[in-house]
Amino acid sequence: MAKLQAIRGMNDILPEQTPSWQYLEKCFQQVMHRYAYQEIRFPILEQTALFKRSIGEVTDIVEKEMYSFDDRNGDNLSLRPEGTAGCVRAADQNGLLYNQQQRLWYQGPMFRHERPQKGRYRQFHQFGVEAFGMDGPDIDAEIIQLSASLWNELDLGEYLTLEINNIGSAEDRKSYGAALTSFLEERAESLDDDARKRMHTNPMRVLDSKNPDVQSALGDAPALEDYVNEQSIEHFSKLKALLDRVGITYVVNPRLVRGLDYYNNCVFEWITDSLGAQGTVCGGGRYDGLVAQLGGKPTKAAGFAIGEERLVLMLDSLSKVPAQSLQKTDVYIVVIGEEMSAAAMELSLQLRSSYPQLGIISHCGGGKYNSQLKRAFSSGAELAVVLESDSGEETVKLRRLDDSADSVSVNISEAVLKVGEILGISGS
Ligand code: HAM
Repeated sequence: MAKLQAIRGMNDILPEQTPSWQYLEKCFQQVMHRYAYQEIRFPILEQTALFKRSIGEVTDIVEKEMYSFDDRNGDNLSLRPEGTAGCVRAADQNGLLYNQQQRLWYQGPMFRHERPQKGRYRQFHQFGVEAFGMDGPDIDAEIIQLSASLWNELDLGEYLTLEINNIGSAEDRKSYGAALTSFLEERAESLDDDARKRMHTNPMRVLDSKNPDVQSALGDAPALEDYVNEQSIEHFSKLKALLDRVGITYVVNPRLVRGLDYYNNCVFEWITDSLGAQGTVCGGGRYDGLVAQLGGKPTKAAGFAIGEERLVLMLDSLSKVPAQSLQKTDVYIVVIGEEMSAAAMELSLQLRSSYPQLGIISHCGGGKYNSQLKRAFSSGAELAVVLESDSGEETVKLRRLDDSADSVSVNISEAVLKVGEILGISGS
């Protein structure tokens, strides 16, 4: 019978890969702690309407990328394609947004039915932060600074560039969109089918077209910055001044519009050229209208999300995961003869409580000395502790697993102390 395979674009993260993930997650949590952001967890499944109302009906995500289905009650549900919508829903539903300021973070799998390629998957993981109840631009600068702190912590700063843009209010984008539609209508014959469809539904997405013919037709298209309101301009220039002041360099990219509808004022992305086509590792911005749009009291908000897979790819290819993050086996207990199992369990427990920093495998499943020793070698352990009934119940042999093959036999009561001595560590 053919074996069942994982779903395309949904990856297994294998034991040899998990240390990089754990390292990344640990660094992220440390930075969150330093900025006093609190963790929130919310479901992976939500009502489809939540994503339609927040991300926008005419976005790639909602139009073609969601995993949606009717459950047994006939409710239409979707696997979350991102975290902001669920975070807002959870925070509002639980009264966290009522006249309060909140600094929240979350982490977990997201799902988008995209065409898989390096750095782009159908199940992927995001870290996100969402800050509620603050006008900005100070909080905008804070979340950007927080992301920069994470790059420093991971030693990736030099590979990442910050792009920012001011996309104004929803009304500004509406008038801009209308101007862009008229401009595109006049050049409809130079556009492809996709652009012709989008010029009426979501004209700003035409700006992202990868088709060179469409790009050349866009030549002197109206610019968004000419449609942005005064207040947004002031907000943006204050944000830039704050970033300048704390030494965060950025590039203003007037074409940066982001693929989700809820943003206003400033948006940003961190990009790298070390990942190929999928070079955006982090994206976010303000979304002051979303809480009210989802039925809550109007609440200012800003946030971002980071793609974990993309960061792990960077960490691995640039060898940035410190060696001490790799999980190590230090001691392998070789157990010859079933009657030694209980003694091995007792000794391993004593060793683990005396030296909690060590990784200790106590052999299970029987087998001859040589085959167990082979496993001890391939585990990477430094020391084998051999319990063998033939050597007498009370004696254990401690054997270095290096070229020296030095070994010493001691009474079982001295084994814990002796292991520490050989490995050069003191017990607790
Ligand atoms: P986004 O730009 O759609 O924004 O996603 C954020 C990041 O998630 C991207 O920059 C990328 O690193 C990663 N990502 C997205 N799709 C994939 C994929 N298919 N495979 C691998 N990684 C991917 C959001 O999701 C917003 N919720 C961010 C936000 C939070 N804005 C405000 N608060």
